[in-house]
Amino acid sequence: MTVKVLFVCLGNICRSPTAHGVFQKMLADAGLGAEIEVDSAGTGDWHIGRSPDPRSQAAALSRNYDLSPLRARQVCLADFHEFDYILAMDKQNLTDLQAIRSDQAKCELALFLNYAANPTRCEVPDPYYGGERGFDEVLDLVEAAAAGLLAHICEHHALGKGAGL
Ligand code: 4NP
Repeated sequence: MTVKVLFVCLGNICRSPTAHGVFQKMLADAGLGAEIEVDSAGTGDWHIGRSPDPRSQAAALSRNYDLSPLRARQVCLADFHEFDYILAMDKQNLTDLQAIRSDQAKCELALFLNYAANPTRCEVPDPYYGGERGFDEVLDLVEAAAAGLLAHICEHHALGKGAGL
C-alpha cells in the first residue's frame, strides 16, 4: 500500500512546493520513494500551472532541493479521498480545507508543523510579501517538520525497516 501525502498552502508557489521538494528528496534519500507519494496544492487558483516562486526555488536550490519540475494546482474534493495525509501550512489553510472536506473523507487533515519534533511555532509564515530571509525560515521549519512526518509515517505504516530510520 502506498501512503499519499499532500501539502497545502494558499498559492502553491512558495510554502507547499517547498515542503513537496524537501519531503520528496527525503523519501528518495531513504529509499522510500515507491512507498510514500507526495504532492502539493493551493487553496487559491491564482497561480495554477505556474512554477514555484523564483525566490523559493533559489532558497531551496541552495540546500540541494530542485523545485523546478513542480507546477501549481488547486486543491479539489477528490484530494480528500486520494490522500492519506493533507497537511496545511497555516491555520487559514486548515480552516479553508475543513470547509471543503466531505464527511466521508478519512484522510488525516492537520497543521504540518504539528509533526516537528520540537515545534517552535505552529504555522509556516507566508514569505510571499516579505524578504529573502522569509524563504530560508520556511525551509528551516519545513525540514524539521518533514523529518518528524517521515518518522511518524514509518512508525504508523511499518515502513523504513532497514532504511536507517
Ligand atoms: P504560498 O504563498 O501560499 O506559500 O504559495 C503565496 C503565494 C502567492 C500569494 C499569496 C501567498 N498571492 O497572494 O498571490
